[in-house]
Amino acid sequence: MFISFEGIEGSGKTTQIHHMEKFFQNNGQDCVITREPGGTRIGEKIRAILLDPESKDMDPLTELLLYTADRAQHIKEFVSPFLSAGKTVLCDRFYDATVVYQGFARGLDIGLIDKLHNLLFENLKPDITILLDLPPEKGLSRAWKQIETGDRKNVETRFEEEKLSFHNKVRSGYLDLARLEPGRFRALDASMYENQVRNEIIKILSGAMNPNT
Ligand code: TMP
Repeated sequence: MFISFEGIEGSGKTTQIHHMEKFFQNNGQDCVITREPGGTRIGEKIRAILLDPESKDMDPLTELLLYTADRAQHIKEFVSPFLSAGKTVLCDRFYDATVVYQGFARGLDIGLIDKLHNLLFENLKPDITILLDLPPEKGLSRAWKQIETGDRKNVETRFEEEKLSFHNKVRSGYLDLARLEPGRFRALDASMYENQVRNEIIKILSGAMNPNT
């Protein structure tokens, strides 16, 4: 099973994906955890370019192609082999992030983004996407706190530095996608306490893994 976690900056995806890794392991379920951008040695190099605040003048098309290059390496080297081996892959962001950030927020043609994904990756989509939703003001204040305390790298702040209007477009883009694909997306209120969010995700994933219980 392929499960992705999405949300704005500071929505708690990374914390929750680690909770789910533990949950699966405690239940004897084979799972691997990964992320985009990154997830492979080459992908981590692409990530550094993409998130570097010094890449401020990056053209949106360059940005789209770098995320796509990262995904090509990630699918070939990590996602496909693990899915073929029957493992559960937990992925911190995937294709929906491209539709939302490069499409809805940067304004690139979503038809083009879709076509590219279809052509290059046979439209590979997660089986379930957990969307952690919260107002950007809250998410950004959490994200900057993590940067100040060193929990998040201060060399990866290019998106945090975007205007609030950008983050509002990201949030509403995700909510639009969730409305368009209600079978795949599960949207949760990420402003709840960490443990409450964790329990809600466990409920959703337990139901999806054991549909007849
Ligand atoms: P994160 O690892 O903290 O989620 O940071 C990754 C950043 O990259 C985040 O701001 C969202 C952005 N992003 C895109 O713009 N497009 C994409 O396709 C992906 C995967 C991430």
